[in-house]
Amino acid sequence: MQFFIDTADIGQIREAMAMGMCDGVTTNPSLVAKTGKPFKTVIAEILDVVPGPVSLEVTTDEFSEMMAQARQLADLGDNVVVKLPLTKPGLRACRTCFDEGIATNVTLCFSPSQALLAAKAGATYISPFVGRLDDVSRDGMGLIERICTIYEAYDFETQVLVASVRHPQHVVEAALQGAHVSTMPLAVLEKMFNHPLTDIGLAKFMADWTKVPKE
Ligand code: G3P
Repeated sequence: MQFFIDTADIGQIREAMAMGMCDGVTTNPSLVAKTGKPFKTVIAEILDVVPGPVSLEVTTDEFSEMMAQARQLADLGDNVVVKLPLTKPGLRACRTCFDEGIATNVTLCFSPSQALLAAKAGATYISPFVGRLDDVSRDGMGLIERICTIYEAYDFETQVLVASVRHPQHVVEAALQGAHVSTMPLAVLEKMFNHPLTDIGLAKFMADWTKVPKE
């Protein structure tokens, strides 16, 4: 399973890269806005340090504007993945990007029917938002299971990129279901390292080590 970091914060991206756990990055307009920096600056910073796939989102739901933005973004680097909304114009753009060899990440997916449409449109990645479904008392991980079943049944090449991840258990469940990618905030990645028995065990090993004669 690949791990992407869901942020536009270059400091957090550098931290995840240093851990050796960052296979790629996903951004969205809200995450870019949080940086307080111009979009061009944010993109340049990220592409400078991340060799893996970097999802950059279009900011329109009109087909022609979407394609103009998609081509501009794709020209910025071979690792750019154009993020498109799961709308009629978005999936039309997805199909056009597929024909032009532009990688895509179809975002804001909340149902199996939407995921099926994205695969048929040739999406490179589909981004189902598990946390936001859980927030409204729906079954986020159940959606991942259903998408994985559908994609496997028809050998769709679209990769399942689990998004809106809120805690390590989302990542574990996604891995158990065979999802290709989890994108997560740095805080979730950091929590994945933690186990109280590791801390207790390490403290005991260190304490016992002080009792070992050094000569
Ligand atoms: O980047 C898309 C997605 O991961 C957003 O997550 O936490 O805003 O629902 P969240």
